[in-house]
Amino acid sequence: MEKILVLDFGGQYNQLIARRVRDNNVYAEILPYTVPLSEIKEGNYKGIIFTGGPNSVFDMSSPHYTKEILELGIPVLGICYGCQLISWMVGGNVETAEQSEYGKIDLTVTKKQSEIFADVDESSVVWMSHTDRVKTMPAGFEITAKTEACPIAAYENEEKKIYGVQFHPEVTHTQFGFKILRNFLYNVCGCHGDWKMDSFIDDTVKSLREKIGDKKVILGLSGGVDSSVAAGLLSRAVGKQLTCVFVDQGLMRKDEGDFVEKTFTSLFDMNFVRVNCQDHFINALKGVSDPEQKRKIIGTEFYKVFWDEIRKQADKGFFAQGTIYPDCIESGKGDADKIKTHHNKVKMPDDVEFIDIIEPLSSLFKDEVRAVGEKLGIPHELVWRQPFPGPGLGVRIIGEITKEKIEILQNADWVLRDEMAKNGYEKNLAQFFCVLPGVNTVGVMGDHRTYDNLVAIRAVTTDDFMTADWAKIPYDILAKVSNRITNEVKHVNRVVYDITSKPPGTVEWE
Ligand code: XMP
Repeated sequence: MEKILVLDFGGQYNQLIARRVRDNNVYAEILPYTVPLSEIKEGNYKGIIFTGGPNSVFDMSSPHYTKEILELGIPVLGICYGCQLISWMVGGNVETAEQSEYGKIDLTVTKKQSEIFADVDESSVVWMSHTDRVKTMPAGFEITAKTEACPIAAYENEEKKIYGVQFHPEVTHTQFGFKILRNFLYNVCGCHGDWKMDSFIDDTVKSLREKIGDKKVILGLSGGVDSSVAAGLLSRAVGKQLTCVFVDQGLMRKDEGDFVEKTFTSLFDMNFVRVNCQDHFINALKGVSDPEQKRKIIGTEFYKVFWDEIRKQADKGFFAQGTIYPDCIESGKGDADKIKTHHNKVKMPDDVEFIDIIEPLSSLFKDEVRAVGEKLGIPHELVWRQPFPGPGLGVRIIGEITKEKIEILQNADWVLRDEMAKNGYEKNLAQFFCVLPGVNTVGVMGDHRTYDNLVAIRAVTTDDFMTADWAKIPYDILAKVSNRITNEVKHVNRVVYDITSKPPGTVEWE
């Protein structure tokens, strides 16, 4: 398979660059700038992309790389900091400009025949975000584009296949960004585009079969996207040799446990073990209202129930999990330790042993996992499932958790989901759900005064969940949802809408 290396110098768009390369059907992997040259040589890459980064190349403590990388005969494209770095490495001049260039800027291509500007308009808009800039390039390098504030906005050494762009081709604001990256991949690196989800499925199924042989595989299925897609792939590879263990702690959204069971038992060939243990969890949570304590109990009990079930499986074989690529990337920001602890996140009890761990999705980004899921025939509803916290509704019921409260919340939340699905507004939201704050308020129903539950609706828009905006759902939709919840859900007499962004709020209420 053809591979591109994205060499990470700490830029915020490193993963986006790799995703854009893959959008062009070329496989890309990300390595930190600390990776030894020998490893790069062994990687057999068709091209290398230097990412951006927040530093200045002339600061010696900034990320640098040995100049030999430019002499491997592998095409190189430097983006932003990467562009300045190449210039600095080959003896060009980099300077700090008086004014930063930030946002959408007009670019003029000055060398129309440049391979990377093929079919790109002479004048177009690019996304810039820099203060330093390349001032001069040494002999052998040609300037290929400029902006008003940046006379060397792109350069190249055609013979050595070294290219630099000061702007960010990976962001959608750059009008011809996709085309420029594609030109680099296909015209300069000579890629053919062999990264396709169909072939990923075929290749993975084949290698899973080889690895697993006639042994068994156990997978913990949560009903989330990643473990579901991993289950689908493993089922295709080894059928009944796969056992999926699904612990339903009774804190899922309404009917979700049944939906997961039905999907996997009817669509896929596998052994499916569902452990229904709502009562066990409710007992363990009796009288507990502290959020941290609740989380802890749910986590601990889950661990116990899950591993007790695994112990019952006579023939254990391999253990599979749905780890995806962003969980495994060691970036150029020096977060290797963090990644390591994350990567080994499944702590196994000492008395349970497996031949090995299998992570069939560990090279995929989330959007690729979803594409694989769709191709495997996993229902759209599961593949596009919104994030759902491990402790489930446990973090959406404030105070003590009881069976009655779970039921009220599930019913209210179901109405919200149903209404959003019917009016199609769900596609505008990153996450939406109901919360039961455990507050009763006075209401009136017919001639009677009521004293019943308040339900809150939470809906957010966000790209990364680190920050989030409360969603501006149209009033008529909110009105309909509120009306339906108070009419259809017993023990709810008031509905409020959470208009807090993150920060200062969090997405969940806890
Ligand atoms: P917060 O509430 O921290 O949530 O703004 C950010 C995102 O993380 C999800 N979330 C969790 N996911 N286990 C998870 O797998 C958890 O314990 C957990 N708590 C919060 C939350 O739903 C939101 O998408």
